[in-house]
Amino acid sequence: MERQRNIVWHHSTVTKKGRQQLNGHKSCVLWFTGLSGSGKSTLANAVDHALYSQGYQSYVLDGDNIRHGLNRDLSFGADDRKENIRRIGEVAKLFVDSGQIVSTAFISPFQNDRELVRKMFEADEFIEIYVKCPIDICEDRDPKGLYHKARKGEIADFTGISSPYEAPCQPELMIETNKYSIDNSVGKILQYLRDKKIL
Ligand code: ADX
Repeated sequence: MERQRNIVWHHSTVTKKGRQQLNGHKSCVLWFTGLSGSGKSTLANAVDHALYSQGYQSYVLDGDNIRHGLNRDLSFGADDRKENIRRIGEVAKLFVDSGQIVSTAFISPFQNDRELVRKMFEADEFIEIYVKCPIDICEDRDPKGLYHKARKGEIADFTGISSPYEAPCQPELMIETNKYSIDNSVGKILQYLRDKKIL
């Protein structure tokens, strides 16, 4: 791209590996994807708390919060959702480079957008977690009253109602939040991280 012509990558002195060694664990992204109200933020924060309590370097990037700042210029049309996910992928990459375990909680409804982010990472660094929950249960929960508004036609392009959600084909993990407790699900995710020698 013309805009990038005179920009040269500067290699950092402290490496990702060095930071991981200092922290005593590997870094990765836990990419939570699922419908609004499926429990992505709740799970991501519960995992973050468990990791933090055990002395691991961890952080959460949350859709609603990021859309108040970094991505406040973006709408919910397909192009802007793509850009939302691309930017979060880039930010998550910086966190992984800094040696942390970063959990991202974004609907990220499109398979293609998630695949583009996956390609930014090394194979074992991107862990896609499908937070599965039937839409009628998400709608019953309706923690922010948004399904109610979407049904009344007050919100355009609402995921699951007037905009599609493409479920992951081969996520590293699938968590069914209508069947298992938060503690049980956090346990599964931490066990996965131990099995993969990230912790
Ligand atoms: S994403 O599709 O681009 O990944 P993101 O996770 O950042 O979405 O933001 C989703 C959050 O924005 C939802 O949890 C909900 O609170 C709010 N929201 C507002 N409008 C919409 C909409 N049209 N579709 C989905 N979520 C919406």
